[in-house]
Amino acid sequence: MVFRTPVIAIDGPAAAGKTTVSKAISDKLGIGYVESGRTYRLVAYHAIREHVPLTDEHALTALCHRMLSSSPIALYQTDAATARALRSPSVTRAVSVVAKLPGIRTAITDLTRKIVEHIGPAIVEGRDIGTAVFPNATTKIFLSATAEVRAKRRNRQEPDRGYAEILADINRRDELDRDRQHSPMTPAPDATQIDTTGLTVDEVISKVEAQCRLALTEK
Ligand code: DC
Repeated sequence: MVFRTPVIAIDGPAAAGKTTVSKAISDKLGIGYVESGRTYRLVAYHAIREHVPLTDEHALTALCHRMLSSSPIALYQTDAATARALRSPSVTRAVSVVAKLPGIRTAITDLTRKIVEHIGPAIVEGRDIGTAVFPNATTKIFLSATAEVRAKRRNRQEPDRGYAEILADINRRDELDRDRQHSPMTPAPDATQIDTTGLTVDEVISKVEAQCRLALTEK
């Protein structure tokens, strides 16, 4: 599939800084921002609310199709209370299970493309944006950092949760996201890999910004 809208793909594991960097680049370049993880979280959130067992692939996929059948783009634009609930530990625990199901991945890949068609040039963050959702993206970046550094950063944002719990959660999600059969998290062969372990947020933002500006002007 050839997609003509300029897209910047930002992939990488949980807590690698994708959201902070993507929002900053979206502001600096005046382009849209799409957080694909939010749609996977929405499916997990509704599954929990509607008591759909996380072991029931058929029911989960049917739920996802029901959610997307009405107004898919409106669904992505959640209110503030739902946005907070999407980051809750129960949704975070359930989401990687939901995200490994092929029927759900296909539906959400389609939704992500529709959102970009709707909003125009955008920076899109996730796990498989450069490999599966927008393989022809204008430019691709894969952000990483050691699990320990990512857990420390997340712990500063969420001081109520202990470091050990956050680290265990990050390791568990890394494994599920990396080892799943369908569109696993892996850098695209043409992605620039940035290890942010020893870098400040501003250093990462300027590296990514420079690459994006170059790619968008060359286009
Ligand atoms: O980026 P996040 O932590 O909000 O993502 C939540 C989960 O969604 C993550 O554990 C894996 C899944 N995900 C995915 O499989 N593919 C994407 N493009 C984005 C997220």
